[in-house]
Amino acid sequence: MSRRWKAERRRDPYRRMARRRGYRSRAAFKLKEMDKRFGLFKGARVVLDLGAAPGGWLQVASEAVGKRGLVIGVDLKPIRPLGLENVRTVVGDVDEEATMEEVKRLLPGPVDVLLSDLSPQISGAWDLDQFRQIELARAALRFAERFLSPDGWVVLKLFQGVDFQDFLRELRERLGFVKVFKPKASRKGSSEVYIVGRYLRRGKEAGDES
Ligand SMILES: C[S@@+](CC[C@H](N)C(=O)[O-])C[C@H]1O[C@@H](n2cnc3c(N)ncnc32)[C@H](O)[C@@H]1O
Repeated sequence: MSRRWKAERRRDPYRRMARRRGYRSRAAFKLKEMDKRFGLFKGARVVLDLGAAPGGWLQVASEAVGKRGLVIGVDLKPIRPLGLENVRTVVGDVDEEATMEEVKRLLPGPVDVLLSDLSPQISGAWDLDQFRQIELARAALRFAERFLSPDGWVVLKLFQGVDFQDFLRELRERLGFVKVFKPKASRKGSSEVYIVGRYLRRGKEAGDES
């Protein structure tokens, strides 16, 4: 880690705020902003959080759905127990059917909010990282196809880059409502944005002529 990067991290107000308020990640504030803007958790009982480690979004979703709700987090990495009664976690790869089956076993009913903050290990090869990011968003959409309630919300992390517009066009065909949102808590200079969508149309994937 370079000295400049370390100094930036120290100055980062969201990082400090996360530590002060007991959130596991500064990303917690991105989700809070999206909730404030779109009302994601209004009336929500069941939340599925893909790419959930270390658990900042799980903490925010847990507060939002309360004792009668349930939040399921999935990640390749084990999530250190959060001590929250309404949170369950699954260690698994979103590309694998076994992970989907494990999620299905835990779900009490349709998912009201599907969150994906999934992101690949950054290789530095920009095209490759962006391609992988879109593949992860597609994996999240497969979970949405299977488990999301008809008026459920979907939040997908993406990087703006070469394939972004094509994928966004595809999302506009598959979702009845789509907004591109850049939280203030996203790092300056990062190409990260979130797609906030609703009313997933089920059935054929966009571009499928068969
Ligand atoms: C930016 S972090 C998520 C941060 C989280 N939202 C929070 O608030 O703490 C992205 C996560 O995606 C996970 N991830 C990447 N590829 C995955 C895959 N194929 N299956 C499951 N998780 C994956 C990584 O392990 C990483 O923990």
